[in-house]
Amino acid sequence: MAIYFLLSSLLLICVLSYGSQKLTAKRLKITIEEATVDDLQLAFRLKTLTSREVVLFYLDKIRELNENLRGVIEVNPDALSQADIADKERRECNHTLPKLHGIPILLKDNIATKDKLNTTAGSFALLGSIVPRDAGVVSKLRRSGAIISGKASLSEWSNFRTSWAPNGWSARGSQGKNPYNSSVEVCGSSSGPAISVAANMVSVTLGTETDGSIICPASFNSVVGIKPTVGLTSRAGVIPISPRQDTVGPICRTVADSVHVLDIIVGIDRNDNATSEASKYIPVGGYGQFLKHNGLEGKRLGIVNMLFDSINHDVFLKQTFEQHFTTLRKQGAVLVDNLEIAHIEDVLDSHSSGEFDAMLAEFKIALNEYLGDLVKSPVKSLREVIEFNKNHSKVEKINEYGQDIFELAEKTNGMGPKEQEALSNLKRLSKQGFKKLMTDHSLDALVAYANSASSILAIGGFPGIVVPAGYHNTKKYPFGICFGGLRGSEPKLIEIAYAFEQATKIRRKPPLA
Ligand SMILES: *[C@@H]1O[C@H](CO)[C@@H](O)[C@H](O)[C@H]1NC(C)=O
Ligand SMILES: *[C@@H]1O[C@H](CO)[C@@H](O)[C@H](O)[C@H]1NC(C)=O
Ligand SMILES: *[C@@H]1O[C@H](CO)[C@@H](O)[C@H](O)[C@H]1NC(C)=O
Ligand SMILES: *[C@@H]1O[C@H](CO)[C@@H](O)[C@H](O)[C@H]1NC(C)=O
Ligand SMILES: *[C@@H]1O[C@H](CO)[C@@H](O)[C@H](O)[C@H]1NC(C)=O
Repeated sequence: MAIYFLLSSLLLICVLSYGSQKLTAKRLKITIEEATVDDLQLAFRLKTLTSREVVLFYLDKIRELNENLRGVIEVNPDALSQADIADKERRECNHTLPKLHGIPILLKDNIATKDKLNTTAGSFALLGSIVPRDAGVVSKLRRSGAIISGKASLSEWSNFRTSWAPNGWSARGSQGKNPYNSSVEVCGSSSGPAISVAANMVSVTLGTETDGSIICPASFNSVVGIKPTVGLTSRAGVIPISPRQDTVGPICRTVADSVHVLDIIVGIDRNDNATSEASKYIPVGGYGQFLKHNGLEGKRLGIVNMLFDSINHDVFLKQTFEQHFTTLRKQGAVLVDNLEIAHIEDVLDSHSSGEFDAMLAEFKIALNEYLGDLVKSPVKSLREVIEFNKNHSKVEKINEYGQDIFELAEKTNGMGPKEQEALSNLKRLSKQGFKKLMTDHSLDALVAYANSASSILAIGGFPGIVVPAGYHNTKKYPFGICFGGLRGSEPKLIEIAYAFEQATKIRRKPPLA
């Protein structure tokens, strides 16, 4: 074990001047394991590290851990050559390079890449399909010089095939495991990105969320997840569920890493019209300026009792969150508690809110559009995906897990009266519920346990950030704290999340084998 560590962690010693006034140089040790984007960029600048070394380190980690954890579905055969290009560009370049230049990023397997990697949502039905182009977010990543290191596992079809498969399972990826404890939940559907970045199989990752799919796995794998305002990041080339709710966002080990990724992927993409309207939210100078230690000063944070109901019976969780509230206050936030959201029971139940009915019809339309756009594919419609699954029932555990959600979606016929009613109900619930709460109490953010607020954020296209908040003392699972806000409130959420993270520093490396 000790020998492995020495060989694999590429201990780097570099010398740098520390602090602007102090001229004394300080020796600083950097290991690739747990290194942040800023650590890696510093080592690149000091020429004590190359992207090639970083990629080799992660390839080694994937070989060591992935057999068990199953966070990665495919490794990019071109990752090393991309690293060499980045190293060459850095040697020849005199101006400042983008934050993700030469940094490996792993993509959830529903984000299209036009390269040697497959894009399959974890399903054999899409293996061998050829996408017309990179997803919008991937084009932005490539332009910034990031290294596409591979595809991450997920709950198959982002958890919209069946109600019966466990989170983190897909036919191609098999069962993803929690690196903190293989017998606890990984959550989903962006399970692979969360597992892989938690276990140091990559620097940073991208996931997607329709309702909880970034926030929940980030929470359960003790990493940071940002679910951006819908439209802030392009969904073009992403295997969809609902264009009204889908969003692409980072899952990383720290708030700062997540913000560096967000800065690269936001912005207008002509293949996703929602990006033009949402681009008004992007601050001049980017999101990095909101990584402020005093980010909690003066912030008004709302506590909705109902969102903590699930942990009231759990002494450990209750005490932990009481402590966190104390920390938030000490850091200068004003906590407004005992709040209520109108009709919250309906909001949190996708069957009473109309969310599920709307998603079924939207999924069929959007998926058929995605499949129709493919250059080549074994399946060209939802109907054919269902047929493919029936044809391969032995391979894909179809008999065990079924495809009930697919079958319900296939029965829909566009956005009819039922769906229109669902949509207006969702609008009304957001307006009279979350929006009213936020404006009536002049709140900057809502605070919630783990993914308890995910539907509130999902139905209105609202953003949220989850940060590690603890490890259960007896049940041994990690959990996060979520800060959610109105559309475009990422700057405030980043200030809050970063200040909380810096004041608590809860995340620790998973205790791997
Ligand atoms: C970079 O700067 C050095 C010295 O300032 C100069 O000699 C070199 O030509 C520059 N290279 C490029 C690619 O601009
Ligand atoms: C993509 O899938 C094909 C099978 O259709 C496989 O041969 C190939 O190795 C896969 N690509 C990668 C990068 O794993
Ligand atoms: C975007 O909007 C324009 C104008 O409404 C429309 O013609 C175009 O088809 C839309 N593009 C996409 C990708 O939806
Ligand atoms: C399913 O199997 C039938 C019979 O072999 C075949 O005709 C059909 O094309 C298959 N469909 C798909 C989507 O694989
Ligand atoms: C893993 O979690 C299970 C179930 O919560 C618990 O019983 C077990 O002690 C945990 N194992 C470790 C090594 O923490």
